[in-house]
Amino acid sequence: MNEPLGQARIEKPELRHFTAIESSTSGELRDLLDLAARVAAGPGRFDDSLNGRLLINLFLEASTRTRVSFEIAARRMGMHVVNVSEHASSVEKGESLEDTFDTLQAMGPDCVAVRHPEPGAADRLADRAQPGVHVINAGDGGAEHPTQALLDALTLQQAFGRFEAIKLAIVGDVQHSRVARSDIALLSRLGVSEIRLAGPAGWVPPLETFHAGGSNLRKFDRLDEAVTGVNAIIMLRIQRERMDAAEQPDPVDYHRLWGLKPRHLRLAGPGCRVLHPGPMNRGVEIAPEVADGEASLIRTQVRNGVFARMAVLHRLLAA
Ligand code: NCD
Repeated sequence: MNEPLGQARIEKPELRHFTAIESSTSGELRDLLDLAARVAAGPGRFDDSLNGRLLINLFLEASTRTRVSFEIAARRMGMHVVNVSEHASSVEKGESLEDTFDTLQAMGPDCVAVRHPEPGAADRLADRAQPGVHVINAGDGGAEHPTQALLDALTLQQAFGRFEAIKLAIVGDVQHSRVARSDIALLSRLGVSEIRLAGPAGWVPPLETFHAGGSNLRKFDRLDEAVTGVNAIIMLRIQRERMDAAEQPDPVDYHRLWGLKPRHLRLAGPGCRVLHPGPMNRGVEIAPEVADGEASLIRTQVRNGVFARMAVLHRLLAA
């Protein structure tokens, strides 16, 4: 823990970008989680640790939590932050993502956090990043959302201690969820013993499509069965923006069949905790009594989002 700084530097491989859980090594992921836990335990120790550095938030898809938490994380450590969004930028005038990125790179950022509707967008930018520019994926289409997975892992670790002790259900629109994809990849690597995937017919992709998908993944087609005996449940929003009109379920029917209600928590058993990456649609995928109830860790996730993003920025940028 208290090894001399020089030695720590030699032993730690440099992390250049953070674009996907699946392409990160287990060592990098454990290191990031340990750092996030240290930040959460004493965020003040990281104040001003990245003084004067520049983060550009390039968000070409809607966001509240992720964008704001990147900004707060960066500011807490003394960084400058510039926000670029689709509607106030030349992306609206037809400029490509690559050209937009190159324009921003020319202004000397240390880091660009990018959110984009296309899978692979962050990797495309990482490939063209100049030396000294680090790229973080803040969500690329339905592919990955690695900092969300990190904050979810931190939240579960704080709640349960050991990952091996966790039986988890992920419920809802799994097929379009980058959160589910990154969570499954990270939590499997960290040793979560069972991950149950459940949702309406056709909404849970074949288990082989999850690279990390080993023996710990199981598929369920009924909510009652999926939650029986689990100790954590991650609920997902219906990603209407990634669906045709014909696919969109009626919210009332959806809530009846797939909405998480107090009786499901009784099936899950004592101590079960509920997570949701947000934004949530109350009365659709989750009943308000559950979202606001004792089992909910939803606000803790939001708080941990700042700590997880501080950890990622610090690991990428601190010399
Ligand atoms: C998620 C996202 O954008 O992938 N939200 C988030 O980042 N907290 C989930 C969602 O939009 O439903």
